[in-house]
Amino acid sequence: MFEYENALIIGTGGREHALGWKISKSKNVKKIFHASGNGGTHNNVQILPNEIERLLNFAKDKKCFTIVGSEIPLSLGIVDQFNLEEVPIFGPTRNASMLETSKKYSKNFMEQNLVPTSEFQTFNDGSKAIDYIHKIDFDAVIKADGLASGKGVFVTNNKQEAVAAIDLLLNAKKFGNSSQNIVIEKRIIGEEVSIIAICDGKSFLILEPCRDHKRAFDNNTGPNTGGMGSFSPVPDIKEEEIHQISKKVFEPTIRGMIDKGNPFKGFLYAGLIIEKETRKPYVLEFNVRMGDPECQPLMMRMESDLFGYIESADQQSIDSVKPIEWKKKHSVCVVMASKGYPDSFEKGHTIKGINKVDREDLMLFHSGTEINSMNEVITNGGRVLGVTSLGNTLKEAITKSYTNVEKIKWGNNQQYYRTDIAQ
Ligand code: GLY
Repeated sequence: MFEYENALIIGTGGREHALGWKISKSKNVKKIFHASGNGGTHNNVQILPNEIERLLNFAKDKKCFTIVGSEIPLSLGIVDQFNLEEVPIFGPTRNASMLETSKKYSKNFMEQNLVPTSEFQTFNDGSKAIDYIHKIDFDAVIKADGLASGKGVFVTNNKQEAVAAIDLLLNAKKFGNSSQNIVIEKRIIGEEVSIIAICDGKSFLILEPCRDHKRAFDNNTGPNTGGMGSFSPVPDIKEEEIHQISKKVFEPTIRGMIDKGNPFKGFLYAGLIIEKETRKPYVLEFNVRMGDPECQPLMMRMESDLFGYIESADQQSIDSVKPIEWKKKHSVCVVMASKGYPDSFEKGHTIKGINKVDREDLMLFHSGTEINSMNEVITNGGRVLGVTSLGNTLKEAITKSYTNVEKIKWGNNQQYYRTDIAQ
């Protein structure tokens, strides 16, 4: 039996910084390593997420329990490889990860298991997809089948926009192999919510609801991004609706994955929309990991020891644990990005003002940052920082996050953020 005393977090984003920060508070973990982390994380190890053999050797050598933050190593079968050597790791196998890695698989799975999702068709031929668009009497959402860092989804308002998205994905192959197939689904109007559960393969425990803001610009305009901000709890989602989501979405999904011979262990993230007129939930997508930036406010609000729940899930006993305790507070994460994200942007600019931010009820979770040779924090990605607050009210949390956002500037003054997060 593998004895662990440390934890290894795989990934480089704000989600991984937040996971490491939270798990560092657990009495069951001595030291947290990040592969490869960012300018805000400590004990960074220069191993890439796709270097699975090296990650495995590191985990064995340093006696680590591994937690996978991002989807890439999951899609490459990191969990299968660790399982072969009985080295503990939290995340789904490669086959179970198909709930995220193939939208076509995921939509077919939902249809087979009666998980509510909007009507859809899949295509690999551009002209057939365009013919379909001309026949339907609803607005469409066009999605690349494979992984695209949250950027392969096009929410269209008319047939012209839908045809342009099909051209980009199937004809111009914007995402290479990831857009060899596409899903076209009916656009549902309503409010989105992210519900994430800790799953042990046969059972699950739902976390508090969170909402992220996927569009790049204010008022939900502009291209889709990985997420420009988030907040938790979500006041307009009622207790009874969460109960319905548990029954109608998570129960059949966990059961369906067992039936397929791919029991789901790890964080299962249902991206849902609650239809405006009917208040019915529809699954927009499954992700097989924590959300980013949903993780940041969830970690700020979680009172209980996250790592204890991960250990219980690993031992298939999540249904026998106590309910998770949450701070009765609101948390808001405002993502500061490099101007130009999600398209092209510059890197390597110093970040000023980090030392001026509040120390209480505020965390600056790093994502695209690194430390340069002069020990300065510099920008190294599109999404750079997640300024994440805790407040007694949503309004207080919003004010706290934005007051601190305003203290931070890039050397070239090209920082960008949405001004309407949680509003
Ligand atoms: N915030 C969306 C995601 O994590 O996929």
